[in-house]
Amino acid sequence: MNKMRVWNWRNHLVGDLAGVVLEIGVGAGANLPRYRKAIRVFAVEPDPQRARQAQATAMRCPIPVSVKIAVAEALPFASGSVDHVVSSLVFCSVHDPRRALREIRRVLRPGGALHMFEHIRPQTSLLANAARKITPYWRRIAHNCHLDRATLETLRAEGWEAQVLARYGVFVRIEARPL
Ligand SMILES: C[S@@+](CC[C@H](N)C(=O)[O-])C[C@H]1O[C@@H](n2cnc3c(N)ncnc32)[C@H](O)[C@@H]1O
Repeated sequence: MNKMRVWNWRNHLVGDLAGVVLEIGVGAGANLPRYRKAIRVFAVEPDPQRARQAQATAMRCPIPVSVKIAVAEALPFASGSVDHVVSSLVFCSVHDPRRALREIRRVLRPGGALHMFEHIRPQTSLLANAARKITPYWRRIAHNCHLDRATLETLRAEGWEAQVLARYGVFVRIEARPL
């Protein structure tokens, strides 16, 4: 995926989200300047250094953004308090994806949605096998990043309706709603 395409993915992912948004695993805040319609953005990030970078990025955003140090598996927000949750390139590395999905479901308001841009297990069995074999080594050098996460299947197993809006190789853009 070239740089220009990633740029477009980020804009498409968050640009039109209105209301209160929670972004999990915000990293250094690459998505933050791209929110155009949200009234408020909350962001969580477990890595203190990245959280500081996200905070610095947030200062340059026209929309109010607060960054907290937290993991997706234990979100410091009230139940039913956000309209949208955003996850970009995060579900490959969360320790417990199913627990994270339960937390996201809890904090979403009725009618709310989860917007994801993730890389997932390759579709062909040859590449899926290679990803499974490489992952134990890769995750040690890449901050727990798994190349073989079956995120769509995990969503469905946790009772979400998951729609693939776009796919580019192993990268997918997903909109998911609790059933
Ligand atoms: C590849 S980076 C993506 C950062 C950002 N979302 C982006 O699109 O540029 C993955 C991020 O997920 C964060 N992360 C890892 N485990 C997490 C968890 N359990 N809950 C929330 N974030 C997590 C990492 O600290 C890191 O900042």
